Amino acid sequence: MTDKLIIFDTTLRDGEQSPGASMTLEEKVRIAKNLEKLKVDVIEAGFPIASVGDFEAVKAVADTIKDSTVCGLARAMNGDIDRVGEALAGANSARIHTFIATSPIHMQYKLAMEPDKVLETAVKAVKRAAKFTDNIEFSPEDAGRSEFDFLCEIIEAVINAGATTINIPDTVGYNLPSQFGSLIKRLIENIPNSDKAIFSVHCHNDLGLAVGNSLSAVMNGARQVECTINGLGERAGNASLEEIVMAVRTRQDAFTCDTRIDTTQIVPTSRLVSGITGFPIQPNKAIVGANAFAHESGIHQDGVLKSRETYEIMRAQDVGWDDNKMILGKHSGRNALRTRLLDLGIELESEEKLNEVFKQFKDLADRKHDIFDEDLHALISEVATLHDDEKIKLVSLKVCSETGETPKAIVVLSVDGEEHSTVSEGSGPVDAAFKAIENLVQSRAELKLYSVNNITKGTDSQGDVTVRLSLDGRIISGQGADTDIVIASAKAYINTLNKMSQNIQKEHPQLGDV
Ligand code: KIV
Ligand code: ZN
Repeated sequence: MTDKLIIFDTTLRDGEQSPGASMTLEEKVRIAKNLEKLKVDVIEAGFPIASVGDFEAVKAVADTIKDSTVCGLARAMNGDIDRVGEALAGANSARIHTFIATSPIHMQYKLAMEPDKVLETAVKAVKRAAKFTDNIEFSPEDAGRSEFDFLCEIIEAVINAGATTINIPDTVGYNLPSQFGSLIKRLIENIPNSDKAIFSVHCHNDLGLAVGNSLSAVMNGARQVECTINGLGERAGNASLEEIVMAVRTRQDAFTCDTRIDTTQIVPTSRLVSGITGFPIQPNKAIVGANAFAHESGIHQDGVLKSRETYEIMRAQDVGWDDNKMILGKHSGRNALRTRLLDLGIELESEEKLNEVFKQFKDLADRKHDIFDEDLHALISEVATLHDDEKIKLVSLKVCSETGETPKAIVVLSVDGEEHSTVSEGSGPVDAAFKAIENLVQSRAELKLYSVNNITKGTDSQGDVTVRLSLDGRIISGQGADTDIVIASAKAYINTLNKMSQNIQKEHPQLGDV
């Protein structure tokens, strides 16, 4: 008998906690729709108490998604739990995930609480969550460094209080696979009411062991894995969904469970998340990296041509590599565009919006022959950021770059509705353009990251640029896409400055008090 392995995706919550990975409401809904298509069982949509924007985003995901359970995170506090309950009120299927730290180091320094008080707070939180739903998950944060007897005691108590999923996080990515697997086995064997809950794991990748630890836990009885697309997440990230799913699927000889994931949606979802967050996928990344199925060396190519199984353990098309078909072009009409967008889960709110997107689409199709799904996603992200009330807008950009000459950029910006222009030199055209923008805006922000990726193949591809800026302790990323990478770079810089000017304060779930 094959058990079900529940896939709990936390890209929109833990993934978004990576500095610079914040997403807008529209982007979160777009990713959530793709996760639903991927057949993820549970989508952790965010931490609603963090800010009004986070609340609205969790609510929008809960109101949209029909086939996956939507979950919200809450510290073990009444205010947090009530806010999750409120955000999830419209969900088809809702889950509240509440947590409190249980390791000696976290209890002493972060919470300044005695273990008895931690246990009492956890039980109260689960009971509070039960006012809203009977689908309750409890996590003893930093379980990977907690004392075994205390873990057993608190888990038994929260199950008695109504928790139906017990998630064991290796919060700091400290555990080793054999040790973590044996922890899960011992917990299940020693907690008297363990059969009343599903055991889950949530591993961080600080030592590169998040997937290994998760799989070892599954071999020892865990039946839910928390993971993220592309392994996005705090610090070195979380366990990567695509690696977990494909390891279990490919090695059915070693596992007694399987997921219901539609693996053909893996690559499109991975690209969408990478495009929206601006976190590129390394070429040699398992499953979703550009080289994951490329056979470079002659010996490998020869083997694969004779019999695929000589060097390939999975088929590229099974994880969605072949789905990247050319779809639209210069002669495609509004209906073709609308239909393709709907296929991608993008519903435009009005005919006016469709006209706006269509205009941009035609403009792009004039410069680029084939328009792929990735181009459409980039276009949608761009249209979504082009609000009338945007503080800074790019009016025009001219760069002069020539062998033996210092590159120069002439930039015209509209700032709060007033046009300003300037000229700047730089070590290259992008540097000159950024300096010119800074001359006009004077943000004082420090450039933390600048990266360019081609959205699709070929030299006519749009360049997808990510800029990450830091100012007064805040780190914000922005993006821009264009077939001209200097223009894409200027758009990305301006997009980041506009996000920065919104000055949204967010609370982090794992810092501060309970
Ligand atoms: O890493 C962690 O411990 C978490 C918890 C909130 C589950 O993200
Ligand atoms: Zn985490």
